[in-house]
Amino acid sequence: MDEMSGQSDMQRGDFSHRSALTWPGIIEAYRQYLDISPEVEAVTLFEGATPLYRANALSELKEANVWLKYEGANPTGSFKDRGMTLAITKAKEAGSVAVVCASTGNTSAAAAAYAAKASMTCVVLIPNGYIALGKLAQALVYGAKVLQIRGNFDRALEIVRDLGESGVATVVNSINPDRIEGQKTGAFEIVDVLGRAPDYHFMPVGNAGNITAYWRGYRDYCVNSKRSLPLPKMMGFQAAGAAPIVAGRVIEQPETVATAIRIGNPASWAGALEAAESSHGLIGSVTDREILDAYRLLAQRESTFCEPASAASVAGLLKTAIEPGSTVVCVLTGHGLKDPDTAITQIAVPDAVDATYASIARELGLD
Ligand code: F0G
Repeated sequence: MDEMSGQSDMQRGDFSHRSALTWPGIIEAYRQYLDISPEVEAVTLFEGATPLYRANALSELKEANVWLKYEGANPTGSFKDRGMTLAITKAKEAGSVAVVCASTGNTSAAAAAYAAKASMTCVVLIPNGYIALGKLAQALVYGAKVLQIRGNFDRALEIVRDLGESGVATVVNSINPDRIEGQKTGAFEIVDVLGRAPDYHFMPVGNAGNITAYWRGYRDYCVNSKRSLPLPKMMGFQAAGAAPIVAGRVIEQPETVATAIRIGNPASWAGALEAAESSHGLIGSVTDREILDAYRLLAQRESTFCEPASAASVAGLLKTAIEPGSTVVCVLTGHGLKDPDTAITQIAVPDAVDATYASIARELGLD
């Protein structure tokens, strides 16, 4: 233990000397590791520095040291803020006045928020009827132009690519390399807190940008920066009804309760395969039932409310044999309040009762 700071060596890293009150956002915190020139001013909402904490029930279940990286604590409630701060900062630097993205919801919320901060126009294309209510509310209230298309995410992304090529707006999907570059800072924070990378890194996979980003982050920070630290096994999980990488083919009609990862033709397919193969990890799949079981377990045993797609990481951990005593990180990519509909359809909502002491006592079995 360091007597001055009260921190163990395991906790001391590049950013741990800063208090949460002075955290400057991921660009200022990690500028030397990012593809951005020194003089550019960041468009930031002070994203990053999200909690990483030990999951006691999961650790006991798996006989391992399991940690949760709670990305729901970002300003718009998901990991997308890490990539969006860099994408919008660089779009602004390049003189762009409008941005566009396709989204299952979280990218659109983040794009709308950061575009508003930069006084830019934001257009988002989302699949009609398949976006969680909280995310739709965010994009609308942040002031984006929201277009619900009669088609799925994959179709929306095709149109957005065309819009990007026509030059009307900068695309801020993860096909924009700045997004992946910013998202890799999640790996930096994990290494800063643990003092090393975990043995296993579990995460959900949708469009596959985030697994690509984390793998780049671990390599940059553990190896290329000359820290000479071992790399984790990258364990990515798709929803069984939307698992093109596992199936080895495009899924035309992807389906899952985890609407955030309802994607049949991921843009960063190759990046996900590269991460899994070169780290000796894997890309697997989890059923909707496994996702929802993990979702409830996280809330009830770890007091952690995440959205269904996020729980795919823990669902993956629960079904995977790992070396006992291993250090494991599961990334929880988005906040549970993003998707209130799924939350209340999973738990029986109680009927109203009379507003009397007697009726409450009866409900509680006290009469
Ligand atoms: N978890 C959540 C909560 C997400 O919103 C997403 C992707 C993922 C996991 C998967 O990450 O696509 O990098 O593999 N959401 C995108 C969106 C597609 O439009 O918000 P990925």
